[in-house]
Amino acid sequence: MDKKVIYSAVQPSGNLTIGNYLGAIRNWVKLQNEYDCFYAIANMHAITVKQEPAELRRRTLELAALYIACGIDPEKSALYVQSHVPQHAELCWVLNSVAYVGEMSRMTQFKDKSQKHAENINMGLMDYPVLMAADILLYQAQCVPVGADQKQHVEIARDLAIRFNNRYGETFTVPEPLILKGGAKICSLQEPTKKMSKSDENPNASIFLTDDRDTVIRKFKRAVTDSGSEIVASDEKPGVTNLLNIYCAFKNCTLQEAEREFEGKGYGEFKLAVGETVADALSPIQEEQAKLLADKNYLGEILKSGADRAYRAARRTLSKVYRKIGFYQGE
Ligand code: TYM
Repeated sequence: MDKKVIYSAVQPSGNLTIGNYLGAIRNWVKLQNEYDCFYAIANMHAITVKQEPAELRRRTLELAALYIACGIDPEKSALYVQSHVPQHAELCWVLNSVAYVGEMSRMTQFKDKSQKHAENINMGLMDYPVLMAADILLYQAQCVPVGADQKQHVEIARDLAIRFNNRYGETFTVPEPLILKGGAKICSLQEPTKKMSKSDENPNASIFLTDDRDTVIRKFKRAVTDSGSEIVASDEKPGVTNLLNIYCAFKNCTLQEAEREFEGKGYGEFKLAVGETVADALSPIQEEQAKLLADKNYLGEILKSGADRAYRAARRTLSKVYRKIGFYQGE
């Protein structure tokens, strides 16, 4: 039997945070031994908000290096840039005729981003989930490992796949989100009920994967905690719970084990321990990323071979789609 297909992507917009790492990339690494994995750099999604072109280009390569530094093995997984495979845009156009304006305008992320970028509510911003559905469906992916904030988008991809299959006959595999506990929603260090985000205006709210040791420790020292002094995870203590989640994710331990470890200790000592743990985990990734970025030709080769592999799979699906919908493709 064919291996299950896994698809996921990250946008090269802004510096990645430990949320992106724990919610997505780290889980991708674990999947690549058992499944057929496609991991993309979603530069076409990134331009739905304004990007500085030179920065977008630089970040694309930095993200490729980061994927590998985090443990993505380009021999096992297809690692590529979304815009290198033209079928993404082509399938998106077909799916646009299956997707409804009403459902897209109700997407939480569209509403949030429209508020945040009120001067630039472009068509792409609204079409974002359709392009994401095209990404996933092109590869007939069964499973999409993402953070909790992307669940709604994967559900729309499912809806579009089912709707298309009903209209034109069995064409797409219906995908499912894979949201692993623990790292699924890493929250802001300054407003711990909000998710940690690359685009937060307050740099103390997010730990970036590029932050050096001192910065990581300083940001954790300043992290907002809650009233009381007990170090336990609970709904009443979103700040402490978030720090415990981060600690457990990096230490690979359970919340109970961490609570026991910090029993009777103060917030100061706790925050320092979280900061040191995260800094220890990030430094080898940073070193490896820097090494990889020193050899741009090697990275270019990897992205090319990843795109070739993705192209072959994408072309197969798109040709099937064109046949189903009645696009003449020659005799
Ligand atoms: P992006 O770049 O916004 O996020 C990339 C991944 O990081 C996860 N994530 C988080 N997880 C836990 N806690 C957080 N604070 C946190 N912040 C972000 C996101 O859930 C995501 O998994 N639209 C996608 C990119 C994309 C995609 C796709 C994903 C494009 N095409 C196809 C899956 C399948 C996105 O959110 O990117």
